[in-house]
Amino acid sequence: MVRKKTTVVGAGNVGATTGYMLATRDLGDVVLIDIVEGLAKGKALDIAEAAGVYPFASAVTGTTEWAATAGSDIVIITSGMPRKPGMSRDDLLAKNAEIVKSVTTQAVKHSPQAFIIVVCNPLDAMVYLAAKVSGLAANKVMGMAGALDSARFAHFIATELGVSIADVKGVLMGGHGDDMVPLPRFTTVGGIPLTELMSAEKIEELTERTRKGGIEIVNLLGYSAYYAPAAGAVKMAEAIIKDKKTVMSCCAYCQAEYGVGGAFVGVPVVLGAGGVEKIVELDLNEMEKKAFAKSVAHVKQLSAKVDKLIR
Ligand code: NAI
Ligand code: 2OP
Repeated sequence: MVRKKTTVVGAGNVGATTGYMLATRDLGDVVLIDIVEGLAKGKALDIAEAAGVYPFASAVTGTTEWAATAGSDIVIITSGMPRKPGMSRDDLLAKNAEIVKSVTTQAVKHSPQAFIIVVCNPLDAMVYLAAKVSGLAANKVMGMAGALDSARFAHFIATELGVSIADVKGVLMGGHGDDMVPLPRFTTVGGIPLTELMSAEKIEELTERTRKGGIEIVNLLGYSAYYAPAAGAVKMAEAIIKDKKTVMSCCAYCQAEYGVGGAFVGVPVVLGAGGVEKIVELDLNEMEKKAFAKSVAHVKQLSAKVDKLIR
């Protein structure tokens, strides 16, 4: 069987960690590409050498040349400025729009069949941009945020209840911003609704911590998170590569679904060999609908700014 090929654009914190996880999980060959001379090559060589300790079959290479990425099945875009303390994700819009526009153009030129997974912030607007610039069908362009945000929610829940995180399925919707919508009613612990296991006050405390999960790490490190974000991107790539039909939240195109009316925003989806194969529609209550609508309005506002920037 021919191994799948994944290109990771940007060999910084998220990109290199994504490359490492793809290789160690034997998800096929990995190409890291970065504009900084030596960075992608150096990280790729270091990752490849790790196979001498814990063997994997994936070939890992680094480059500054797009030609080396040709024929990729998946392109994961992590090339963008991360935020620093005091910055919001939205503050990154103009600079990252320029970068994501340029790398998306190159990615589709060399890998016209690839699925694109965007990681750069502000996430939902960057997914919109990549979809627009690439001209790819909506099922082929998606963004990683729900995997990370629901993992954070799951971590806080498992820690609070003293249970295995493997049993916690956190569900979350909306844009990757402070108005994201954690959904305790749909979150389960060993199949039991979270609302049966925790007080409303405690749930509110943990959902608030989840909404601020990104900045909590920025404030500790001075730069942004990358282990859990990389894990989120790899989970999405794995679902596509192995046709796993994984049900998880990611940023995907919604038209009639949830009455969104045409925007890329976080929703539960089925991810498989066809990319975003289905959007799962939950029966939201009035409060959840209101919170989601607020988040969608914010995402649409940012996407409109993208239109101006790339005109
Ligand atoms: P980083 O600064 O460590 O890495 C970014 C890399 O992109 C750098 O090595 C840089 O040289 C490279 N780059 C810049 N322009 C490029 C181009 N035109 N072509 C190829 N490479 C280029 O940043 P980090 O921490 O890896 O974060 C990357 C992005 O991911 C940021 O925008 C950050 O906000 C976002 N992020 C999103 C998350 C999410 O949940 N969606 C979670 C964590 C980070
Ligand atoms: C995060 O949530 C910064 O979006 C990034 O960690």
